[in-house]
Amino acid sequence: MKHPESQDFKHIGNKLLNWYKQNARDLPFRQTKDPYKIWICEIVFQQTRINQGLNHYNNFIKRFPDVKTLANAEEDEVLLYWKGLGYYSRAINIHKAAQQIMNDYQGTFPSDYDEILKLKGVGKYTAAAVSSICFNGKMPAVDGNFYRVLSRVFADDFDISNSRAFNYFSELATLVLPENVGDFNQAMMDLGSEICKPRNPFCGECPLNEDCLAFSLNKISEFPVKTKKVKAADLGLKYYFVHRNGQFLIQQRKDDFIWKKLFEFPPEISEELMHFIKSSKTVNHKLTHKNLSIEIFNVEVDSETVWTDFIAENNYIITDFEGSYERSFPKPLETYIQNYHTAYRIL
Ligand code: ADE
Repeated sequence: MKHPESQDFKHIGNKLLNWYKQNARDLPFRQTKDPYKIWICEIVFQQTRINQGLNHYNNFIKRFPDVKTLANAEEDEVLLYWKGLGYYSRAINIHKAAQQIMNDYQGTFPSDYDEILKLKGVGKYTAAAVSSICFNGKMPAVDGNFYRVLSRVFADDFDISNSRAFNYFSELATLVLPENVGDFNQAMMDLGSEICKPRNPFCGECPLNEDCLAFSLNKISEFPVKTKKVKAADLGLKYYFVHRNGQFLIQQRKDDFIWKKLFEFPPEISEELMHFIKSSKTVNHKLTHKNLSIEIFNVEVDSETVWTDFIAENNYIITDFEGSYERSFPKPLETYIQNYHTAYRIL
Protein backbone atom coordinates (compact mmCIF):
# COMPACT_ATOMS: atom_id res chain seq x y z
CA MET A 1 0.00 0.00 0.00
CA LYS A 2 1.46 3.37 -0.91
CA HIS A 3 -0.20 5.33 1.87
CA PRO A 4 1.97 4.86 4.95
CA GLU A 5 -0.07 4.20 8.08
CA SER A 6 2.30 6.47 9.92
CA GLN A 7 0.93 9.48 8.10
CA ASP A 8 -2.12 10.94 9.77
CA PHE A 9 -5.18 11.19 7.57
CA LYS A 10 -7.76 11.29 10.35
CA HIS A 11 -8.39 15.00 9.78
CA ILE A 12 -9.98 14.00 6.45
CA GLY A 13 -12.61 11.88 8.21
CA ASN A 14 -13.23 14.61 10.76
CA LYS A 15 -13.64 17.28 8.08
CA LEU A 16 -16.18 15.06 6.39
CA LEU A 17 -18.07 14.63 9.69
CA ASN A 18 -18.19 18.40 10.23
CA TRP A 19 -19.52 18.87 6.75
CA TYR A 20 -22.12 16.17 7.39
CA LYS A 21 -23.30 17.93 10.58
CA GLN A 22 -24.17 20.97 8.48
CA ASN A 23 -25.26 19.28 5.26
CA ALA A 24 -26.77 15.87 6.03
CA ARG A 25 -29.76 15.23 3.82
CA ASP A 26 -33.03 15.21 5.70
CA LEU A 27 -34.13 11.65 5.03
CA PRO A 28 -36.88 9.77 6.91
CA PHE A 29 -34.54 6.97 8.00
CA ARG A 30 -32.14 9.53 9.50
CA GLN A 31 -34.64 10.10 12.36
CA THR A 32 -34.23 6.56 13.66
CA LYS A 33 -31.68 4.03 14.84
CA ASP A 34 -34.11 1.17 14.53
CA PRO A 35 -31.94 -1.49 12.84
CA TYR A 36 -34.95 -2.94 11.03
CA LYS A 37 -35.68 0.36 9.29
CA ILE A 38 -32.02 1.07 8.57
CA TRP A 39 -31.60 -2.41 7.11
CA ILE A 40 -34.64 -1.96 4.82
CA CYS A 41 -33.43 1.46 3.70
CA GLU A 42 -29.95 0.15 2.93
CA ILE A 43 -31.41 -2.62 0.77
CA VAL A 44 -33.88 -0.29 -0.97
CA PHE A 45 -31.34 2.44 -1.66
CA GLN A 46 -28.48 0.22 -2.69
CA GLN A 47 -29.62 0.16 -6.30
CA THR A 48 -32.29 2.82 -6.32
CA ARG A 49 -31.87 6.58 -6.15
CA ILE A 50 -33.22 8.23 -3.01
CA ASN A 51 -35.79 10.31 -4.95
CA GLN A 52 -37.05 7.29 -6.85
CA GLY A 53 -37.27 4.97 -3.85
CA LEU A 54 -38.50 7.19 -1.02
CA ASN A 55 -42.22 6.62 -1.55
CA HIS A 56 -41.65 2.89 -1.85
CA TYR A 57 -39.60 2.89 1.33
CA ASN A 58 -42.28 4.82 3.25
CA ASN A 59 -45.08 2.56 1.98
CA PHE A 60 -43.07 -0.54 2.76
CA ILE A 61 -42.38 0.58 6.35
CA LYS A 62 -46.01 1.58 6.83
CA ARG A 63 -47.24 -1.87 5.83
CA PHE A 64 -44.35 -3.81 7.43
CA PRO A 65 -43.29 -1.67 10.41
CA ASP A 66 -41.24 -4.36 12.13
CA VAL A 67 -39.48 -7.69 11.67
CA LYS A 68 -42.43 -9.72 12.94
CA THR A 69 -44.98 -8.18 10.58
CA LEU A 70 -42.66 -8.75 7.64
CA ALA A 71 -41.84 -12.33 8.65
CA ASN A 72 -45.54 -13.19 8.93
CA ALA A 73 -46.52 -11.66 5.58
CA GLU A 74 -47.10 -13.66 2.41
CA GLU A 75 -44.20 -13.48 -0.02
CA ASP A 76 -46.50 -12.26 -2.81
CA GLU A 77 -47.54 -9.26 -0.75
CA VAL A 78 -43.91 -8.40 -0.01
CA LEU A 79 -43.24 -8.58 -3.75
CA LEU A 80 -46.19 -6.33 -4.42
CA TYR A 81 -44.83 -3.65 -2.09
CA TRP A 82 -41.50 -3.98 -3.89
CA LYS A 83 -43.17 -3.34 -7.22
CA GLY A 84 -41.34 -0.64 -9.15
CA LEU A 85 -38.04 -1.01 -7.26
CA GLY A 86 -36.73 -3.85 -9.46
CA TYR A 87 -34.16 -6.45 -8.42
CA TYR A 88 -36.92 -8.53 -6.86
CA SER A 89 -34.54 -11.05 -5.32
CA ARG A 90 -33.82 -8.30 -2.77
CA ALA A 91 -37.46 -8.45 -1.62
CA ILE A 92 -37.43 -12.25 -1.46
CA ASN A 93 -34.25 -12.15 0.62
CA ILE A 94 -35.59 -9.45 2.96
CA HIS A 95 -38.62 -11.62 3.65
CA LYS A 96 -36.48 -14.71 4.32
CA ALA A 97 -34.10 -12.71 6.53
CA ALA A 98 -37.03 -11.43 8.64
CA GLN A 99 -38.02 -15.07 9.25
CA GLN A 100 -34.40 -15.87 10.07
CA ILE A 101 -34.41 -13.09 12.70
CA MET A 102 -37.63 -14.50 14.21
CA ASN A 103 -36.27 -18.06 14.28
CA ASP A 104 -32.59 -17.61 15.11
CA TYR A 105 -32.60 -14.36 17.14
CA GLN A 106 -36.02 -14.51 18.87
CA GLY A 107 -37.16 -11.53 16.80
CA THR A 108 -34.39 -9.20 18.01
CA PHE A 109 -32.27 -7.71 15.26
CA PRO A 110 -28.65 -8.86 15.72
CA SER A 111 -26.28 -6.06 16.70
CA ASP A 112 -22.96 -7.59 15.75
CA TYR A 113 -21.45 -7.12 12.27
CA ASP A 114 -20.70 -10.84 11.84
CA GLU A 115 -24.19 -11.84 12.94
CA ILE A 116 -25.88 -9.27 10.66
CA LEU A 117 -23.75 -10.63 7.83
CA LYS A 118 -25.39 -14.04 8.28
CA LEU A 119 -28.79 -12.67 7.27
CA LYS A 120 -30.04 -13.67 3.85
CA GLY A 121 -29.17 -11.09 1.21
CA VAL A 122 -26.97 -9.04 3.53
CA GLY A 123 -23.47 -8.32 2.27
CA LYS A 124 -20.50 -6.59 3.83
CA TYR A 125 -21.73 -3.12 2.86
CA THR A 126 -25.17 -3.56 4.46
CA ALA A 127 -23.79 -5.27 7.59
CA ALA A 128 -21.30 -2.41 8.03
CA ALA A 129 -23.96 0.25 7.46
CA VAL A 130 -26.49 -1.24 9.91
CA SER A 131 -23.96 -2.08 12.63
CA SER A 132 -22.28 1.33 12.44
CA ILE A 133 -25.44 3.45 12.20
CA CYS A 134 -27.42 1.54 14.86
CA PHE A 135 -24.87 -0.10 17.15
CA ASN A 136 -21.74 2.06 17.03
CA GLY A 137 -19.97 -0.55 14.89
CA LYS A 138 -16.60 0.37 13.42
CA MET A 139 -16.67 -1.08 9.89
CA PRO A 140 -16.61 1.24 6.88
CA ALA A 141 -19.62 0.68 4.56
CA VAL A 142 -17.55 0.44 1.40
CA ASP A 143 -19.46 0.86 -1.85
CA GLY A 144 -19.02 2.74 -5.13
CA ASN A 145 -19.09 6.06 -3.26
CA PHE A 146 -16.10 5.00 -1.15
CA TYR A 147 -14.19 3.85 -4.23
CA ARG A 148 -14.79 7.16 -5.93
CA VAL A 149 -14.10 9.50 -3.01
CA LEU A 150 -11.04 7.66 -1.71
CA SER A 151 -9.49 7.03 -5.12
CA ARG A 152 -9.78 10.76 -5.83
CA VAL A 153 -8.60 12.01 -2.43
CA PHE A 154 -5.50 9.79 -2.64
CA ALA A 155 -5.23 9.90 -6.46
CA ASP A 156 -5.09 6.13 -6.10
CA ASP A 157 -5.19 4.19 -9.34
CA PHE A 158 -6.15 0.83 -7.86
CA ASP A 159 -8.52 -0.74 -10.39
CA ILE A 160 -12.04 -0.83 -8.89
CA SER A 161 -13.03 -3.72 -11.17
CA ASN A 162 -10.32 -5.83 -9.53
CA SER A 163 -11.80 -8.48 -7.22
CA ARG A 164 -9.56 -7.24 -4.40
CA ALA A 165 -10.87 -3.65 -4.68
CA PHE A 166 -13.25 -4.08 -1.76
CA ASN A 167 -10.49 -5.16 0.61
CA TYR A 168 -8.11 -2.55 -0.72
CA PHE A 169 -10.49 0.38 -0.25
CA SER A 170 -11.67 -0.97 3.11
CA GLU A 171 -8.09 -0.75 4.30
CA LEU A 172 -7.65 2.68 2.78
CA ALA A 173 -10.83 3.80 4.54
CA THR A 174 -9.40 2.84 7.94
CA LEU A 175 -6.75 5.57 7.47
CA VAL A 176 -9.40 8.30 7.51
CA LEU A 177 -12.03 6.67 9.76
CA PRO A 178 -13.09 8.89 12.69
CA GLU A 179 -14.66 7.71 15.98
CA ASN A 180 -18.26 8.05 14.77
CA VAL A 181 -18.24 5.54 11.93
CA GLY A 182 -22.04 5.52 11.51
CA ASP A 183 -22.14 9.22 10.61
CA PHE A 184 -18.94 8.89 8.59
CA ASN A 185 -20.48 6.14 6.46
CA GLN A 186 -23.59 8.20 5.82
CA ALA A 187 -21.45 11.27 5.12
CA MET A 188 -19.60 9.30 2.43
CA MET A 189 -22.93 8.34 0.86
CA ASP A 190 -24.09 11.95 0.81
CA LEU A 191 -20.77 13.32 -0.43
CA GLY A 192 -20.65 10.66 -3.14
CA SER A 193 -24.13 11.37 -4.43
CA GLU A 194 -24.31 15.16 -3.95
CA ILE A 195 -20.75 16.46 -4.43
CA CYS A 196 -18.19 13.85 -5.46
CA LYS A 197 -20.41 12.60 -8.28
CA PRO A 198 -19.14 10.24 -10.99
CA ARG A 199 -19.37 12.96 -13.62
CA ASN A 200 -19.09 16.73 -13.18
CA PRO A 201 -18.44 16.67 -9.44
CA PHE A 202 -18.82 19.92 -7.49
CA CYS A 203 -15.20 20.15 -6.34
CA GLY A 204 -15.60 23.84 -5.49
CA GLU A 205 -18.08 22.91 -2.76
CA CYS A 206 -16.29 19.82 -1.52
CA PRO A 207 -15.17 19.86 2.13
CA LEU A 208 -12.18 17.71 1.14
CA ASN A 209 -10.94 19.74 -1.82
CA GLU A 210 -7.84 20.96 0.03
CA ASP A 211 -6.90 17.37 0.83
CA CYS A 212 -7.81 15.89 -2.53
CA LEU A 213 -4.75 14.89 -4.52
CA ALA A 214 -6.65 14.27 -7.76
CA PHE A 215 -8.18 17.75 -7.49
CA SER A 216 -4.86 19.44 -6.90
CA LEU A 217 -3.38 17.53 -9.86
CA ASN A 218 -6.42 18.50 -11.96
CA LYS A 219 -7.02 14.80 -12.64
CA ILE A 220 -10.43 14.22 -11.11
CA SER A 221 -11.80 12.65 -14.29
CA GLU A 222 -9.07 9.98 -14.19
CA PHE A 223 -10.37 8.50 -10.94
CA PRO A 224 -11.59 5.96 -10.07
CA VAL A 225 -9.74 3.68 -12.49
CA LYS A 226 -11.90 0.92 -13.93
CA THR A 227 -10.61 -1.32 -16.69
CA LYS A 228 -12.97 -4.24 -17.01
CA LYS A 229 -16.28 -3.72 -18.68
CA VAL A 230 -18.67 -6.56 -17.91
CA LYS A 231 -20.44 -7.13 -21.17
CA ALA A 232 -24.13 -7.93 -20.90
CA ALA A 233 -25.16 -11.09 -22.75
CA ASP A 234 -27.96 -10.99 -25.36
CA LEU A 235 -31.00 -13.07 -24.58
CA GLY A 236 -34.17 -13.55 -26.64
CA LEU A 237 -37.49 -14.35 -24.94
CA LYS A 238 -40.90 -15.17 -26.34
CA TYR A 239 -44.24 -14.60 -24.65
CA TYR A 240 -47.83 -15.13 -25.67
CA PHE A 241 -50.44 -12.69 -24.44
CA VAL A 242 -53.32 -15.18 -24.58
CA HIS A 243 -56.59 -13.36 -23.96
CA ARG A 244 -60.34 -13.52 -24.37
CA ASN A 245 -63.00 -11.00 -23.28
CA GLY A 246 -60.59 -8.98 -21.13
CA GLN A 247 -59.15 -12.03 -19.41
CA PHE A 248 -55.62 -13.34 -19.95
CA LEU A 249 -53.27 -16.05 -18.76
CA ILE A 250 -50.24 -15.76 -16.50
CA GLN A 251 -47.93 -17.88 -14.37
CA GLN A 252 -45.43 -17.20 -11.62
CA ARG A 253 -41.72 -17.56 -12.38
CA LYS A 254 -39.53 -19.76 -10.23
CA ASP A 255 -36.99 -18.58 -7.68
CA ASP A 256 -34.09 -18.85 -10.11
CA PHE A 257 -32.49 -17.05 -13.06
CA ILE A 258 -33.93 -13.60 -13.83
CA TRP A 259 -37.19 -12.04 -12.56
CA LYS A 260 -37.47 -14.42 -9.62
CA LYS A 261 -41.07 -15.08 -8.55
CA LEU A 262 -42.52 -12.42 -10.83
CA PHE A 263 -45.52 -13.18 -13.03
CA GLU A 264 -45.25 -13.65 -16.78
CA PHE A 265 -47.33 -14.61 -19.83
CA PRO A 266 -47.18 -18.17 -21.18
CA PRO A 267 -43.79 -18.75 -22.83
CA GLU A 268 -45.33 -21.35 -25.17
CA ILE A 269 -48.76 -22.23 -26.56
CA SER A 270 -50.54 -25.09 -28.36
CA GLU A 271 -50.75 -25.53 -32.14
CA GLU A 272 -54.43 -24.54 -32.04
CA LEU A 273 -53.69 -21.25 -30.38
CA MET A 274 -51.13 -20.36 -33.06
CA HIS A 275 -54.06 -19.67 -35.41
CA PHE A 276 -55.25 -16.86 -33.18
CA ILE A 277 -52.03 -14.86 -33.25
CA LYS A 278 -53.04 -11.38 -34.41
CA SER A 279 -49.76 -9.53 -34.20
CA SER A 280 -46.45 -9.42 -32.40
CA LYS A 281 -44.29 -6.79 -30.84
CA THR A 282 -40.63 -6.85 -29.89
CA VAL A 283 -39.40 -4.85 -26.93
CA ASN A 284 -35.83 -4.45 -25.79
CA HIS A 285 -35.05 -4.31 -22.12
CA LYS A 286 -31.74 -4.03 -20.27
CA LEU A 287 -30.99 -5.89 -17.05
CA THR A 288 -27.66 -5.58 -15.27
CA HIS A 289 -26.08 -8.55 -17.06
CA LYS A 290 -28.54 -9.19 -19.89
CA ASN A 291 -29.78 -7.38 -22.95
CA LEU A 292 -33.23 -8.82 -23.46
CA SER A 293 -35.14 -8.87 -26.70
CA ILE A 294 -38.70 -9.89 -25.87
CA GLU A 295 -41.14 -10.86 -28.57
CA ILE A 296 -44.73 -10.73 -27.35
CA PHE A 297 -47.45 -12.32 -29.50
CA ASN A 298 -50.98 -11.03 -29.22
CA VAL A 299 -53.18 -14.15 -29.16
CA GLU A 300 -56.84 -13.17 -29.29
CA VAL A 301 -58.74 -16.40 -28.76
CA ASP A 302 -62.01 -16.06 -30.65
CA SER A 303 -63.11 -19.61 -29.86
CA GLU A 304 -64.66 -20.54 -26.52
CA THR A 305 -63.67 -24.23 -26.89
CA VAL A 306 -60.05 -23.55 -27.78
CA TRP A 307 -59.83 -21.15 -24.82
CA THR A 308 -61.34 -23.63 -22.33
CA ASP A 309 -59.31 -26.55 -23.72
CA PHE A 310 -56.06 -24.64 -23.39
CA ILE A 311 -56.90 -23.61 -19.82
CA ALA A 312 -57.86 -27.20 -18.92
CA GLU A 313 -54.62 -28.60 -20.31
CA ASN A 314 -52.32 -26.08 -18.64
CA ASN A 315 -51.76 -24.66 -15.21
CA TYR A 316 -52.02 -21.00 -16.05
CA ILE A 317 -53.74 -18.47 -13.80
CA ILE A 318 -56.65 -16.61 -15.42
CA THR A 319 -56.62 -12.92 -14.58
CA ASP A 320 -58.03 -9.64 -15.86
CA PHE A 321 -56.48 -6.17 -15.99
CA GLU A 322 -57.56 -5.17 -12.46
CA GLY A 323 -56.43 -8.52 -11.06
CA SER A 324 -53.06 -8.21 -12.77
CA TYR A 325 -52.37 -4.89 -11.03
CA GLU A 326 -52.36 -6.82 -7.73
CA ARG A 327 -49.37 -8.84 -8.91
CA SER A 328 -45.81 -7.98 -9.82
CA PHE A 329 -44.64 -8.34 -13.42
CA PRO A 330 -41.30 -7.60 -15.04
CA LYS A 331 -41.31 -3.99 -16.22
CA PRO A 332 -41.71 -4.70 -19.98
CA LEU A 333 -44.68 -7.02 -19.37
CA GLU A 334 -46.25 -4.52 -16.99
CA THR A 335 -45.97 -1.85 -19.67
CA TYR A 336 -47.44 -4.22 -22.26
CA ILE A 337 -50.46 -4.92 -20.02
CA GLN A 338 -51.00 -1.22 -19.34
CA ASN A 339 -50.84 -0.35 -23.03
CA TYR A 340 -53.19 -3.16 -23.92
CA HIS A 341 -55.58 -2.13 -21.16
CA THR A 342 -55.68 1.42 -22.50
CA ALA A 343 -56.36 0.16 -26.04
CA TYR A 344 -58.96 -2.28 -24.72
CA ARG A 345 -60.85 0.52 -22.93
CA ILE A 346 -60.99 2.53 -26.14
CA LEU A 347 -62.32 -0.38 -28.23
N1 ADE B 1 -28.03 5.19 0.32
C1 ADE B 1 -28.11 4.02 0.94
N2 ADE B 1 -28.14 4.16 2.26
C2 ADE B 1 -28.08 5.48 2.51
C3 ADE B 1 -28.04 6.26 3.69
N3 ADE B 1 -28.09 5.68 4.88
N4 ADE B 1 -27.95 7.57 3.55
C4 ADE B 1 -27.87 8.11 2.32
N5 ADE B 1 -27.91 7.46 1.19
C5 ADE B 1 -27.99 6.13 1.27
